[in-house]
Amino acid sequence: MKGKKWILAVKFKGEPAPSNFKLIEEDIDENLNTGEVICEAVYLSVDPYMRVIVNDVNEVMKGEQVARVIKTKHSDFRVGSLVLGQFGWRNLTKVSDPSMIRPIPELGELSPSLALGSLGMTGLTAYYGVLDVLKVKAGETFVVNAAAGAVGSVAGQIAKLKGCKVIGFAGSKEKCDLIKEYGFDYAFNYKEVTLEQALSEAAPEGVDCYFDNVGGEFTNNMLSFMKTKGRIAICGSISTYGMEDRQPTGSLPYLTINRKTLTVQAFLVYHYSAEWPDALKEMIQWVKEGKIKYRETITDGFDKMVDAFIGLFKGTNMGKAVVKC
Ligand SMILES: NC(=O)c1ccc[n+]([C@@H]2O[C@H](COP(=O)([O-])OP(=O)(O)OC[C@H]3O[C@@H](n4cnc5c(N)ncnc54)[C@H](OP(=O)(O)O)[C@@H]3O)[C@@H](O)[C@H]2O)c1
Repeated sequence: MKGKKWILAVKFKGEPAPSNFKLIEEDIDENLNTGEVICEAVYLSVDPYMRVIVNDVNEVMKGEQVARVIKTKHSDFRVGSLVLGQFGWRNLTKVSDPSMIRPIPELGELSPSLALGSLGMTGLTAYYGVLDVLKVKAGETFVVNAAAGAVGSVAGQIAKLKGCKVIGFAGSKEKCDLIKEYGFDYAFNYKEVTLEQALSEAAPEGVDCYFDNVGGEFTNNMLSFMKTKGRIAICGSISTYGMEDRQPTGSLPYLTINRKTLTVQAFLVYHYSAEWPDALKEMIQWVKEGKIKYRETITDGFDKMVDAFIGLFKGTNMGKAVVKC
C-alpha cells in the first residue's frame, strides 16, 4: 500500500512558502502485528505552532488528524471507527504505538472535524486560558487578538459567557462582523484602527484581562492599556513565528509590567491534558446549546495542506483551519 506525506524540504526562513514543503510517497506495510492498526486521514489540522516545531529538513510535518481505521489488529479499534491521532501530515498511517491514538469525544450529530477545533485542542486552549490562567470575573474588560481564529473566537465567547465586556481584534471587516455575531461587545480591524483609537472608545477604564495570540508590537502596545494588577495570558505570538530573531535581545517591557504590577502567565494546553475529558464535556454542552458558536475554514484535498497552512499566516482562515481528505 502506498501512502503520501508532506516533509520539510527547505528550512523555514520568514513566513512559510510552498517551496518549504515536498509531497512524497511512502510504503505502508499492510501486514499487521497484534496491536497495530492502519488509519486513513479524514480531517487534518493545520496550526500556527507547526511553523515553529518542525525544523529539520526531511522531517515529516507534525500535526493531529481525525482518521478512520481501515485495517486493525487492535481490539479497541474496529474497522470504520474514527480516532484522533498525532500522525503528522500523512494520508495513511500505520500505527504500532496505540498511545498515539485517542478516541474521539462523543459528538453526536456534530462534525468530527470539531475534535480538531472548538471541541479539541484549540477550543481547550481557549477554555484553560480564560478560565484557569486569567480566571476572568463578571464585569471585567477582556481583550483578545486573532479574535476570529480558532482559539480567539472561542476565548472571546467563553469570556462573554462569564460576564466580561469582550473586545476582539481581527484582520478584516468580515472577521469583525463574525465575532460581533458571536456576541463580542466590540470588534476592531487592527489593520485600520490603532489600539489607542479602539480602546479609548471600548475600554477607557483600562483592560483587566488580555488573551494574547499575536505577541510582538501588538502586545508591547497593549501593556499601556492594562489596568493596575491586570492579567495577561500568553497563549501564542503568531506575529513573531516568521522572524529570524523571535526573542529580540532589546529591553523587554519589564518596567511597565512592574509599575502596573501586571501578572503575565504563559501556558500550554497540553499541560492540562489529564483534565481534558471534563473540560470537553462542558464545551460540548455549550456548543450543543448554541452558547459557543464556531466556524471552520475547510480546504479540500490532502494536496492542499500547504495552502491551508500558509493561509494561517496570511489570515485567510475564519475559525479553525482544517483540511478534508
Ligand atoms: N498555548 C497553547 O497551548 C496554544 C495552543 C494552540 C494555539 N496557540 C496559539 O494561539 C494562537 C492562535 O492560534 P489558532 O490556532 O487559533 O490560529 P488562528 O487564529 O485560527 O489563525 C491564525 C490567525 O492569526 C492571525 N495572524 C496571522 N499572522 C498575524 C500577524 N503577523 N499579526 C497579527 N495577526 C496575525 C490571522 O488572523 P487576522 O486576519 O485576524 O490577522 C490568522 O487568521 C497562535 O499564536 C498559536 O500558536 C497556543
